[in-house]
Amino acid sequence: MKTQVCIIGGGPSGLLLSQLLHLQGIDNVVLEKHSREYVLARIRAGVIEHGFAKLMQEAQCGERMQREGQVHEGFFIANAGVLHRVDLHKYSGGNTVIVYGQTEITRDLYEARDRMKGAVIHNAEDVRPHEMTTATPYVTYRLGDEVVRVDCDFIVGADGFHGVSRKSIPKTVLTEYEKVYPFGWLGVLSRTPPVSEELIYSRHERGFALCSLRSPVLSRYYVQVPLADKVEDWSDDAFWAELKHRLPAEVAARLVTGPSIEKSIAPLRSFVAEPMRYGNLFLAGDAAHIVPPTGARGLNSAASDIYYLYHAMVAYYKRSDASGLEGYSAKALARVWKAQRFSWWMTTMLHTFPGSIEYDHKLQETELAYLFSSAAAMSSLAENYVGLPF
Ligand code: APR
Ligand code: PHB
Repeated sequence: MKTQVCIIGGGPSGLLLSQLLHLQGIDNVVLEKHSREYVLARIRAGVIEHGFAKLMQEAQCGERMQREGQVHEGFFIANAGVLHRVDLHKYSGGNTVIVYGQTEITRDLYEARDRMKGAVIHNAEDVRPHEMTTATPYVTYRLGDEVVRVDCDFIVGADGFHGVSRKSIPKTVLTEYEKVYPFGWLGVLSRTPPVSEELIYSRHERGFALCSLRSPVLSRYYVQVPLADKVEDWSDDAFWAELKHRLPAEVAARLVTGPSIEKSIAPLRSFVAEPMRYGNLFLAGDAAHIVPPTGARGLNSAASDIYYLYHAMVAYYKRSDASGLEGYSAKALARVWKAQRFSWWMTTMLHTFPGSIEYDHKLQETELAYLFSSAAAMSSLAENYVGLPF
């Protein structure tokens, strides 16, 4: 097989790039390890920044998000039983975010790829990039007994944190920065009306909690749990009881509980791999960087990579201008690290750290007191949460 861009990974990063390139007449193939059903069964984050929403429109995939997504002008931070509102609209100079699930985004992207008859190959096994530092790179994969070779100009590694692309770059070339947090998030999706129209990030001595939502009838809640905890340790009743403990009394009193539709534990990790380019292999999204979910940056950081890569490839193919590709890694990483900083800051400010000392608690308290009393601090939070410019 021959194509211009071979994309490894059919998650939101790979699909969005595929769709944008196709609309510009740039031929590409997406190789996805799993079935579509498997990819669409993953429940992940749901806060979309403005720039990403615009990119979805440009990809002709934004219609349902526009219709069903909810525009949020702010959220709450609860501390010591009191709710404080963060007015994103006011402090970001009129910006907002859209609450719309990543699963829905992925579904919309798959539908768009189908509509345009885009090449998305599922259940591609043993995907391997080859000859990345030459002008003739290629990717091989296996479908049953058949091994297929895809010759291309560029390979994009959009295959997530556990993918093959990053691992194909020699260790001598790649530097990995990692910070693992000593806790995870236990998440529950439930068909119940959300306890609040806007998200509530709650700091509590028993551990952090988050009230989020997907729609007026679908709630998403999280509680911080020790790393050793297993999902089986947590009955629905135990989850709801713990969540209530960690919310202000007035909020806990109006929480509607119900059976969980999905329940899972995710560890919290910060990770960046540098550089994001090795010859003609370009990394994007979770393949190159991970953030703890506290600042809702994960998916949005992936989208900014795609924005840079898409524009760089269009410049290359339409105007023979390779400068965007040359500068991709540095440009993407500059924004990636800002998302890392913000996610680390939100995580550190709001979680209970095992082994922390009284001094740490005082600093957390002061961080929040400063935030709630300073328009400058609020503006800093707001501009990061709605997404820094691309
Ligand atoms: N070969 C082919 N596909 C692979 C391989 C492989 N060796 N390894 C992984 N994949 C596929 C996965 O099955 C998955 O569908 O690559 C895809 C990667 O998708 P994601 O993990 O969703 O990563 P990405 O598309 O970068 O999405 C950004 O932002 O909010 C965060 O973690 C969240 O997934 C989200 C991410
Ligand atoms: C979610 O709805 O899943 C969600 C929202 C905000 C976050 C993290 C997760 O910061």
